[in-house]
Amino acid sequence: MAARKEKIGIIGSGLIGRSWSMLFASVGYEVCIYDIDKNQVDNALQDVSRQLKTLEKTKMLRGKLTAAQQFACIKGATNLEMCLKGAKFVQECVPENLALKRKVFQEADEFVADDTILSSSTSTFMPSQFSDHLNHKKQIIVSHPVNPPYYVPLVEIVPAPWTEPSVVTRTRAIMEEIGQAPVTLTREVEGFALNRIQYAILNEVWRLVADGILDVKDIDKVMSEGLGMRYAFLGPLETAHLNAEGMKNYCERYANTIYAVSETMGPTPKMVGEQVNVVDEQLCAMVPVEKLAERRAWRDKCLTALSKLKQEMKE
Ligand code: NAI
Repeated sequence: MAARKEKIGIIGSGLIGRSWSMLFASVGYEVCIYDIDKNQVDNALQDVSRQLKTLEKTKMLRGKLTAAQQFACIKGATNLEMCLKGAKFVQECVPENLALKRKVFQEADEFVADDTILSSSTSTFMPSQFSDHLNHKKQIIVSHPVNPPYYVPLVEIVPAPWTEPSVVTRTRAIMEEIGQAPVTLTREVEGFALNRIQYAILNEVWRLVADGILDVKDIDKVMSEGLGMRYAFLGPLETAHLNAEGMKNYCERYANTIYAVSETMGPTPKMVGEQVNVVDEQLCAMVPVEKLAERRAWRDKCLTALSKLKQEMKE
């Protein structure tokens, strides 16, 4: 039995669908999860049960309910209608394929109410690309999570040009309620915010390696042992504010230098050709492909510890 009588529909029970169900169940929502592949739903429920128990054991479980109470909030659905009927909020988590997203939302359109929020986990498509054909297109929104969402709380909320403003505010309130950290874009833009910033960083590290200024190991160290240390707590703008006597002073001191250096950065590199092999070879020497899973588990352990530390620093 769910702890409250409000329903969330989750479409797609892969990596991200599972994470969303755990986040919604952490505050007692009645979660109904559907997948085109029936076995996937069964696997997802088993996996979520195991994950919740581990989180409880390691004292990382979110919310006030026990793991068993949270698991009781989550049910599998055998068809889309069952998943969506009466839902206040729907989170789509099917693979990143535009034609598929368009089809899934068209099917969902039939079963949702006039006030159901239709939210997508997409990391690359703008909401206008998969909602122009819907009767309920005013209810569409993107809620883009960051992997793994249980430990990395950012959610980018992105409206389509036709999204009702109340859908945006309600989505943000729901994300805050489940303990995520939402940001709201005023309009859709390619790459949203996170990937635009990530691509700017990737482009510059690519150029520095291609120009032979630093090798792969050292360029990554600039982030993990340098910028990343403070970016785990502060954004680049507040960092600048603190690095001088406030932002105005920072601009007086550094604006010309920043502009002059930025002008030398050169055109956007294409990540193709021989340089891909050069970078890949160095990365594989650091982390061989057969050790990727092990390294991912280590990354998640680090993120868990960091999220604990961030919580402590807030308190
Ligand atoms: P996944 O491949 O792990 O899971 C997708 C699930 O959708 C599968 O279980 C599949 O059987 C199911 N599915 C396929 N067609 C369906 C349909 N018509 N109806 C219902 N279920 C269907 O994918 P993942 O990684 O969970 O990604 C889902 C979405 O989340 C994608 O849009 C992705 O871009 C986005 N995302 C993924 C992140 C990641 O790191 N994996 C991070 C942020 C967003």
